[in-house]
Amino acid sequence: MAAGWRALREDMVTEVCERGISDAVAEALLTVPRHVFLPELPVEVVYQDDAIVTKRDAHGRPISSSSQPAMMAIMLDQLGVEPGQRVLEIGAGTGYNAAVLAHLVGPRGRVVSVDIDADLVRRAREHLARAGYPEVEVVYGDGVEGFAPEAPYDRVIATVGVWDLAPAWLDQLGPGGRLVAPLDLRGVQRSVAFERAGGHWTSRSAVPCGFMRMRGPFAGPETILVLDWDTDLTISLPEAEEIGDILTALDGPVTELPTGVGAGRGQLLDGLNLWLAVHEPRWCTMSETRPGWLAAGPLDLEGFKTSIGIVEGDSLCLLEWGSDGTLVARGYGPERNRLADDLSAHVQAWYGAGQPMTTGLRIDAHLGAPPRDGLVIRKRHTSLVLSWNLG
Ligand SMILES: C[S@@+](CC[C@H](N)C(=O)[O-])C[C@H]1O[C@@H](n2cnc3c(N)ncnc32)[C@H](O)[C@@H]1O
Repeated sequence: MAAGWRALREDMVTEVCERGISDAVAEALLTVPRHVFLPELPVEVVYQDDAIVTKRDAHGRPISSSSQPAMMAIMLDQLGVEPGQRVLEIGAGTGYNAAVLAHLVGPRGRVVSVDIDADLVRRAREHLARAGYPEVEVVYGDGVEGFAPEAPYDRVIATVGVWDLAPAWLDQLGPGGRLVAPLDLRGVQRSVAFERAGGHWTSRSAVPCGFMRMRGPFAGPETILVLDWDTDLTISLPEAEEIGDILTALDGPVTELPTGVGAGRGQLLDGLNLWLAVHEPRWCTMSETRPGWLAAGPLDLEGFKTSIGIVEGDSLCLLEWGSDGTLVARGYGPERNRLADDLSAHVQAWYGAGQPMTTGLRIDAHLGAPPRDGLVIRKRHTSLVLSWNLG
């Protein structure tokens, strides 16, 4: 049995390392026993490089999980943890990432991890003790407050999707500190590493990610509406807004406008999706798990159709594949022609800008008033200024 999970863990870490992970993080993943943090599951499941949901709400929506090890590793490398450092984690979950952090900071370091659910906190403490990391402090509370009694920290990491940077995290970071968080950029998420730069915070790296959202008063306004339960047709919007009769629109006449732009799924997910989200207030994502309403979308996975586009009142326009493999803007509803023109113009603009991706994205987070120029996303506490370095 022991040999079984060791070999499985090595295989998982080998797979994770294909993403170009640092030796220190790879060694930590090889050392920390993930199965101790997921005791109810077979080791064959535990040592897959997958996120594993561990708790759902009354509607069946996931509210806690052990994150995908590859994503954990990428974020730990963004965080750049060193031996002896003090680290605060928001989102203790199973405690697994906290244990990996404890391994990285070593006996002279300190790890504090906060979770909003008392039962998760209790279990994370048990797991950490059993795995040999009883020194990790797991705190019950809303992570938005950070944990002042142990501040200052060298590193702060959120392992839950955040809509804004909480002032407490920034205040509790010491000089030279770094914060890594899966940050909402108008409905899409990027794991962003921030450091102080003069009077504001600037990004050092950003990578695509998809974390469950933070709960509590600091939760963001992102909204998911189910339009048809039979097909599980949903629309995701960056914030709550009134939308019209989308089902009637999808059932009616269609406008097809070829964009002439071709792109792979990765480029669309990483690049065009982000571009649309931050440039177009009417941005939306639609998906369904059973065929019914959506044509073949450019982001489809097996058993899961997804498309991105724009929605306005009773009309919408989605990106789909044309027969020649280039993107087509398909408009539905009374304003379908205008929306198809608008969506096609965005695709052309993205293409004309050199098809920017997350690599090269720079985000400056200002607590006060941001500079007047630039692409600004206003949050509750910060204003984010986005720019791309295409060099
Ligand atoms: C993806 S899980 C974290 C995974 C965890 N780091 C691990 O290794 O298992 C996200 C966690 O964030 C927690 N969470 C959600 N909202 C929170 C909040 N406002 N404050 C603290 N934790 C929160 C959830 O309860 C959940 O356990």
